[in-house]
Amino acid sequence: MLKDKTVVLGVTGSIAAYKAADIASKLVQAGARVEVVMTRAATEFVTPLTFRSITARPTVTGMFDLASEFSIEHVALAEAADLVLIAPATANIIAKLAAGIADDMLCCTVLATKAPIVLAPAMNVNMYHNPVTQENLAKLRSRGFSVVGPAYGRLASGEMGLGRLAEIREILESVRQVLGKRGDLAGKRIVVTAGGTQEPIDPVRHIGNRSSGKMGYAIAQAARDRGAEVVLITAPTALSDPVGMEVVHVQTSLQMREAVVKAIAGAHVLAMAAAVADYRPVAQSRSKIKKRADTLSLKLVRTPDILAEVEGEFIKIGFAAESEKLVENATEKLHRKNLDLIAANDITAADSGFDADTNRVVLIDAQGRAERLPLLPKSEVADRILDRARGLLAAER
Ligand code: CTP
Repeated sequence: MLKDKTVVLGVTGSIAAYKAADIASKLVQAGARVEVVMTRAATEFVTPLTFRSITARPTVTGMFDLASEFSIEHVALAEAADLVLIAPATANIIAKLAAGIADDMLCCTVLATKAPIVLAPAMNVNMYHNPVTQENLAKLRSRGFSVVGPAYGRLASGEMGLGRLAEIREILESVRQVLGKRGDLAGKRIVVTAGGTQEPIDPVRHIGNRSSGKMGYAIAQAARDRGAEVVLITAPTALSDPVGMEVVHVQTSLQMREAVVKAIAGAHVLAMAAAVADYRPVAQSRSKIKKRADTLSLKLVRTPDILAEVEGEFIKIGFAAESEKLVENATEKLHRKNLDLIAANDITAADSGFDADTNRVVLIDAQGRAERLPLLPKSEVADRILDRARGLLAAER
């Protein structure tokens, strides 16, 4: 998604400017062409050489800087940009952009560009809460700027408050989301489930299914990056909430069913990657069960099969975790649950399935056609599944 895209990275004079070096590096690693523009104040915190070394491109520091090809034509960067990201964005640059001032290269670029703009504010907590900064940000948002953060935390002054630069992961996710707005899934609502449900036995114990949540999160993120409106319904995982989507946290299979039923209204696709527990304790003990007897029996009852239950005008995608007869068992599930597509994976393989960052799946459709994908990163598997979903959506029309 970032491959061969030109990202203008504006760096302004905040102590968080050093973090912009990491942002530049991650953008370069993702394949983007990164053109860094620094304000004069930013050069007091980090040197242009830092960015030049990371991006292998000259760093633009001024309008009259003859070392840069862009300085000659002051709007050339604005035209070349697929996206402008200002990180960190100080209260000063935010005020200047809100007022339309064009007294340095960064302001000129923003004023002249037609590319989408993402701001990642970083400043003192009082400067951030000052009504003038809030008004400026509201003004920029209403003009279509995207704003990520700031985050709450310890600030350079030692105070705690809102004003820290958002996490780099969040900033990069926002960039992907903004670049993907007009992607091939724009206008589509996609509901994804992830993680393993937990069925309480007592206040401290539960029955759970193994699931890292990585496959479901990868689908949700890939769909967002292709322009979809995404609802991610997740059972507990160790993963951070992705940005740019509605994230609904649930614990049990019953809560997951409720959330799916609510989210599915108007959806185009449901992808159930969650490992839903098949049984739950009939009753949950209010107090902690003490270990007295040598054996303990728990009476379990079936949970609802969410995927089999929900019906509607959406593409229904399921997963099948199998330890034997992969295609046969998955095909049976596809028919039993009335699915359009099922992604089957062999959980006995070490490089796919639980916890791994890669997965090897077989995609089976309602006509019984099986497509064996090679071992791929889960992000790539996600895209392949979404390609198939898009195909199914197009065929429906
Ligand atoms: N699923 C569901 N509700 C359940 C159990 C499973 O919606 N109570 C969904 C899963 O999210 C997955 C698909 O059904 O997309 C298949 O899950 P899996 O556990 O492999 O199949 P089961 O139907 O539970 O069959 P079995 O455990 O007998 O293999």
